[in-house]
Amino acid sequence: MTSTKPVVVYGASGYTGRLVCEYLREYNVPFIAAGRDKARIREVLDRVPGIETVDHEVVEVEHDVASLTDLFRGASVVSNMVGPFIKYGPEVVEAALAAGCHYLDTTGEQDWLLDAQNRWGKQYADAGLLLSPGLAHMYTTGEIAANICLETPGVDTLDILVLWKGFPTYASTQTIFTILKADWFYLEQNEYRRWEPTTTFEVAVPGQHEVALALPWGGTCHPVWFKDDPRVANCRVAGGVFDRGVMQGVVETVKLVEEQIKTLPADQQDAALAEIAGSVQAGMPPRENPRINTSLDSVHATGPLARVHCVIHGNSNYKQTGLLQAYAAYSLLQQPPRRAGLASGCQAFGHRELLGVLRSFGLVMEPEVTVRT
Ligand SMILES: NC(=O)c1ccc[n+]([C@@H]2O[C@H](COP(=O)([O-])OP(=O)(O)OC[C@H]3O[C@@H](n4cnc5c(N)ncnc54)[C@H](OP(=O)(O)O)[C@@H]3O)[C@@H](O)[C@H]2O)c1
Repeated sequence: MTSTKPVVVYGASGYTGRLVCEYLREYNVPFIAAGRDKARIREVLDRVPGIETVDHEVVEVEHDVASLTDLFRGASVVSNMVGPFIKYGPEVVEAALAAGCHYLDTTGEQDWLLDAQNRWGKQYADAGLLLSPGLAHMYTTGEIAANICLETPGVDTLDILVLWKGFPTYASTQTIFTILKADWFYLEQNEYRRWEPTTTFEVAVPGQHEVALALPWGGTCHPVWFKDDPRVANCRVAGGVFDRGVMQGVVETVKLVEEQIKTLPADQQDAALAEIAGSVQAGMPPRENPRINTSLDSVHATGPLARVHCVIHGNSNYKQTGLLQAYAAYSLLQQPPRRAGLASGCQAFGHRELLGVLRSFGLVMEPEVTVRT
């Protein structure tokens, strides 16, 4: 089957995929909602109020390059929600390239970003197509805050904190545990340096008195996005969820992975990690509530003679993610990205533009910016 709609949302039955469809409806962009189980996708979409007002179709597809290419042909943008992306992403990126589509996903997996850059970055650039893994609250909102800091010349070091309140979905939990197997990097004088996996931070959280427990959280996407940015030499990120109990659980798991899983034969490690992740989250978290599910992105940017602090308070990090994906698709249907090949959300669409999108849907406050030069 060849697509008759300009956008394909793959993994539309999931928590985030459904939100992408909801926001595509608000932008009035026709789409195909695709996945491995047609009945399940239909059931999920039928619970979206007003979904009948947007032109869309539900399609079941096998997870292999040939079937996905066949589906994507005729479309312009693929929004991939099937993670962990290091595990399920390659077929989708290959298929999108073969079909001549821009590729977007929501990864927070640094190893997937590096893999995608190395394997397909040049091919997408040569084809004039955008390869943008990681268009999501984690870490686009923090990237917006970092870019606001970088509007002040003279800063070269980014100290980033990303926190959110809520409980991860099934695939998010699988993803968080999958990252534990990888090496994670930060940037020091423009070189990647490996994090010690058991590193923890007690962080001062802007806007509250209580400190929080944060982790390198897999290294995050920021060091990769800022690696070739001449304004930035150093970039370190701490992240996680606000709930200290959940974070202590992750700390224990990291230790367990170091001591008991990384010592297993390579072909047994994935299954062991997936089993632990499955025991943590097997169901679907409730729909987000802005009074409960808050987000915080804070960036201290420093240089020899400049200091800037930018804080973005927001809510509903999965809704932020769904909206960013839908806006990116809407934008790509009208004009090319600012950069082809591997590019972050801000590099492809502009940080002030993405901030405006999040602000206009009530998902983030006006950034608090303090500048000293
Ligand atoms: N960085 C961020 O801020 C951020 C935010 C949101 C999400 N994410 C990432 O986005 C991904 C999706 O998250 P989610 O919240 O939507 O998870 P989810 O609710 O568990 O949904 C996962 C989706 O993937 C599909 N899927 C799973 N295994 C598959 C397979 N083998 N073949 C084909 N389809 C498969 C599921 O289909 P079925 O319904 O048929 O099972 C479902 O549509 C995760 O990797 C998560 O980490 C990141």
